[in-house]
Amino acid sequence: MRNLNEDNITESVLQQIKADNPRLQQIMTSSITHLHGFIREVEPSEDEWFQAIQFLTRVGHKCDDQRQEFILLSDTLGVSILVDSISHRMPEGATESTVFGPFHREGAPVLEHGANIAHGPEAEKGEPVVVRGRVTDLSGQPLAGALLDIWQASPDGKYDVQDPDQPEMNLRGKFLTNANGEYWFKTVKPSAYPIPDDGPVGDLLRATGRHPMRPAHIHFMLSADGYERLITHIFVEGDDYLDSDAVFGVKNSLVADFTLNESPQAAAAYGFDAPFYEVEFNFGLKPI
Ligand code: BEZ
Ligand code: FE
Repeated sequence: MRNLNEDNITESVLQQIKADNPRLQQIMTSSITHLHGFIREVEPSEDEWFQAIQFLTRVGHKCDDQRQEFILLSDTLGVSILVDSISHRMPEGATESTVFGPFHREGAPVLEHGANIAHGPEAEKGEPVVVRGRVTDLSGQPLAGALLDIWQASPDGKYDVQDPDQPEMNLRGKFLTNANGEYWFKTVKPSAYPIPDDGPVGDLLRATGRHPMRPAHIHFMLSADGYERLITHIFVEGDDYLDSDAVFGVKNSLVADFTLNESPQAAAAYGFDAPFYEVEFNFGLKPI
């Protein structure tokens, strides 16, 4: 291990990697090979390499209990959705997954069907929506007792944790499917919103001519005994950002029509003023 230079350094580093764990051996061998390949291709100056190190240092310093800037970096570079796609190759009949995001909270209340998850000023400001659908297995048989854990941003584009004006656990709730696999709840129409862009990831987006917006969506995490947990969204058809999601999470199969219903009678039956929106979305779960 002497006289190392650009021609022999990669091989020399690889020879040092002798992990007991074969998977760690594979991961380290591949990451060193690709990292050296990247350096050979780009030939960064020492100044540029130091800027990269400073950038990653800023990403680390931005992380705390509330903020995970490395996940945001992974999301905005398309790595999170790549890992998700590889980890959840779905068979026919199963709903596609998408990114988890940082805004899920443990402890949302389990609610009765038909409950409104929007509270406080958000409930008054927003456009009312009824969401309903079924949870089934791959052959379309209903799954009773499946748990749907739901969370979304307000019509102002903020999650409760980002906004002291929203009540605790606003726009969050859990629902259990009935004997026919059905669920339904009330909420307000979500809107597009920016991912947190006040840190180094936001700087990188701006420097590379990208916006921080995500198209409007509602998050779902579904669990049922004997089935793979599904983490996904429903997106709103017609949203301006469906083709440029900052975290690359949109799939055609997850885009739903939010249909305007102008009937005062129909609205009154839900305790809404007309008009309101209706959306139906069925989920198929993959057996374990
Ligand atoms: C979200 O949809 O909540 C989200 C996903 C990835 C990054 C930031 C936010
Ligand atoms: Fe979100």
